[in-house]
Amino acid sequence: MSGKTWTVLGIETSCDETAASVVRGLAPGPGEILSNIVFSQTEAHAPYGGVVPEIASRAHLEILDTMIERALADAKLSLAEVDGIAATAGPGLIGGVMVGLTTAKALALATATPLIAVNHLMGHAMTARMTHGVEFPFLLLLVSGGHCQLVGVGGAEDFRLYGSTIDDAVGEAFDKAAKILGLPYPGGPAVELAAKTGNPRAYELPRPMKGRDGADFSFSGLKTALRLLAQDGAKDGISVEDAAASFQAAVIESLVDRTRAGMALFRRDFREGNVLVVAGGVAANQAIGAALAKLAGQEGFVTRIPPPRLCTDNAAMIAWAGVERLSAGRAGDALGISPRARWPLAAPA
Ligand code: KG4
Ligand code: ZN
Repeated sequence: MSGKTWTVLGIETSCDETAASVVRGLAPGPGEILSNIVFSQTEAHAPYGGVVPEIASRAHLEILDTMIERALADAKLSLAEVDGIAATAGPGLIGGVMVGLTTAKALALATATPLIAVNHLMGHAMTARMTHGVEFPFLLLLVSGGHCQLVGVGGAEDFRLYGSTIDDAVGEAFDKAAKILGLPYPGGPAVELAAKTGNPRAYELPRPMKGRDGADFSFSGLKTALRLLAQDGAKDGISVEDAAASFQAAVIESLVDRTRAGMALFRRDFREGNVLVVAGGVAANQAIGAALAKLAGQEGFVTRIPPPRLCTDNAAMIAWAGVERLSAGRAGDALGISPRARWPLAAPA
């Protein structure tokens, strides 16, 4: 690493993870994660089968201070030693975002340190720079509980949307599939585990959007097909493992087909570009990662997928987004900046 490095405290509270982290580095990375603490509220929400916003914001409020103290202690730094304080300012559950952003504002004001209001999706998008030092441009497949999109990333402020879901996000589809199959929440890891011992060809399920023009996704039809399969099977019984494997195989075939289409669109914009970054919680799925790596091999791309704990929500990616901002020589945000429930990363290309 050459030149000055930047040390940033990151705060993430946009969904059901309360997280704080300190990261040091200089874009394009890789960066050094000095501490990375994630408290998952999974148990608090599990009885309801999904995230309850009111419970989430209260839980963030209760522990965020302690998490920040621990992140600084683990990094062996005091607040006075960080160059920036970055917090997710959206998109997400507004109550939680307010807790994190307000805390960051207070710390920034008290220490006269720049505040960096981070788009959560930007955090996911840039993680592969922190982990692998990926240079621009790259094709981003962002697959999480709330988002499913293919984006050409030409720079830290150059995002081109090639495709997105017309209904459910892929993580959401995993969560709903788990519910249908009686698997625990959160659904993604549970479906992946069940699929490991199932036969992916046991049940015929649709491959949504396969072969369609453009690079959009759709998952609600697949979810409905799985529900019908489970309803029919209620009489004779279906194998949960086989159903999970068949569902995951359908998701994979759809993702691979759409990503192939996205690669063609990306190559039109960036002739020499050959890196596929997969980000967001669903990127933690090993079977999906393997299928995308195979596709990349066929299409002359290489894949860069951060390790699972940096794919799901965390604050290191938010701190890194702060490092990106400071590395680009750009100023912090005004303390009056508002949290945003909705905040798209990219407009259609
Ligand atoms: O990025 P993330 O932690 O939160 C959002 O910003 O949405 O993503 C959470 C989503 C959930 O829908 C979860 O079921 C899914 O990612 N997920 C997975 C896996 N691990 C997490 N989906 C499939 N396979 C996994 N192993
Ligand atoms: Zn996320």
